[in-house]
Amino acid sequence: MKTAEILNKEKLTREDLLYLMNTEDPKDLNLIYEKAYEIKEKEVGKKVFYRGLIEFSNNCIKDCNYCGIRRSSGNVERFFMDKKDILESARWIYENNYGSLVLQSGERQDEEFILFVEDVIKEIKELSGGKLGITLSLGEQNRETYKRWFDAGAHRYLLRVETSNKELYKKMHPQDGKHNFENRIICLKELRNIGFQVGTGVMIGLPGQSTEDLVEDLLFYEKLDVDMIGMGPYIISDETPMGEEYRDKVMSKEKRVSLGLKMIALSRIYLKDINIAATTALQGLDPLGREKGLKAGANVLMPITTKDEYRAKYQLYNDKPCIDDTADQCKGCLAGRVKSVGDEIAYGEWGDSPHFFKRKNR
Ligand code: 5AD
Repeated sequence: MKTAEILNKEKLTREDLLYLMNTEDPKDLNLIYEKAYEIKEKEVGKKVFYRGLIEFSNNCIKDCNYCGIRRSSGNVERFFMDKKDILESARWIYENNYGSLVLQSGERQDEEFILFVEDVIKEIKELSGGKLGITLSLGEQNRETYKRWFDAGAHRYLLRVETSNKELYKKMHPQDGKHNFENRIICLKELRNIGFQVGTGVMIGLPGQSTEDLVEDLLFYEKLDVDMIGMGPYIISDETPMGEEYRDKVMSKEKRVSLGLKMIALSRIYLKDINIAATTALQGLDPLGREKGLKAGANVLMPITTKDEYRAKYQLYNDKPCIDDTADQCKGCLAGRVKSVGDEIAYGEWGDSPHFFKRKNR
């Protein structure tokens, strides 16, 4: 009863969000998902936008305590795709009419890397006659680097804040001066000032994270006025400090999936016209995770288009799905999944978030 009442409000308060975040009654959950889907239909339509994901390197200067490709992990076979391979993947994405791609890798800040990325962006623009939209997910950089990549032709940037709780952020990252919450916020603001469409997100079900924290994450998205959100459940990665410490102590899979879906739904209900991705990590914990994400209000999918030989090496967490599939198999599989939900794939469109254009005109 109370859930229905809250969902009828025009603007939810922090208390409302917390009430919904804490409810576990299946009837209430359904009401929340239905409302989120209704708002999605109204604000962004039933279209699903694709971003072909190219994970081109797992070299990383950072040492995040949760991540499988952290710098000090000795167990990772490091790789760096050459330009030819990246462009081949980009061409596949273009020819299969995905509309946009995401370049993601571990973090590097050296000039050789910056120049390489700049060059790759330009060549992707060239090979697609300017038609492929380019999103970057390459971590923290300085303003000048972001600007160079923007001028080269990238127009969206994803940089997750991981959690908006500063204390929790500290616990998840080594205190070596290189992992700094404040710097991440500065980066997000620089990206926005330069003109990027900006996306952020958090991990859900982290050890030590409360439902209050998750509500604060939603309010953080609002405060930063972000255009896009990509978030997913935390998944143990063996042989990381957090993996070792929390292996048997992490919240159940079901609970993490349910909270992940709730975060998607409440983001849609609260922020309305942004783009929200149903991420691979959701599917990592539930075979139907991405479909459920679309049902809960997500409108973006990021099919892995990394070349087969590299997929298994880009493992941020255990049991990453789809590592044995080819890009072609993923395409067919996802098309079926989208259809099963009643959504439609928007082939060949950039699918920018309406929020971005509205805020530009404010
Ligand atoms: N579980 C879930 N997500 C993870 N990421 C990194 N490690 C994990 C993990 N163990 C996410 C982070 C990062 C994104 C690229 O992958 O949120 O920003």
